[in-house]
Amino acid sequence: MPLETESRAQIRALIAEFRPNHGDLLATLHRIQHEYGYLSREALEVVAEQLHLFAAQVYGAASYYEEFRFEPPAAVDIRWCSGPACRARNGGGIRDALLATLAVQMNGQTEDGRVGVRLGQCIGTCELAPQVWIEERASHTNEVVGNLNAAKAVRLARALRDGATAQEVLRG
Ligand code: FES
Repeated sequence: MPLETESRAQIRALIAEFRPNHGDLLATLHRIQHEYGYLSREALEVVAEQLHLFAAQVYGAASYYEEFRFEPPAAVDIRWCSGPACRARNGGGIRDALLATLAVQMNGQTEDGRVGVRLGQCIGTCELAPQVWIEERASHTNEVVGNLNAAKAVRLARALRDGATAQEVLRG
């Protein structure tokens, strides 16, 4: 068993209530991602130990689900809505403008880790199509930015890239 570091001990404490053979794997992974924003290799190893599984089994299960991530998230995530109402109103153009402005791929992030763009699914706020959601880790905020066009998307991406907060972008 690897040496017990401070971070391993913290992860272990976070998931202490979960037990082997109780169908707890997904709940355990969700608990960690909610706390840290992603599943580190270390976290997957601790989960495997806690639930008496192989690390490869834990990774295999986690990688099956799109919601789990294995790299630290960007400070600000722009989640692009891929739903039909947003697509019908030039959602594809919004996506292309965001990716080109930030020079990233879908589900990637800028080199400095400041801004990422992630694929999102319809959340039912279609009256604001086309839209994105801005998720900010530091403030735990999640804002809908709707009625976008390509020019607004470029301004939004530039402002976030240059350090504006979601609140500042919305006010501006
Ligand atoms: S299709 Fe984008 S919010 Fe519904």
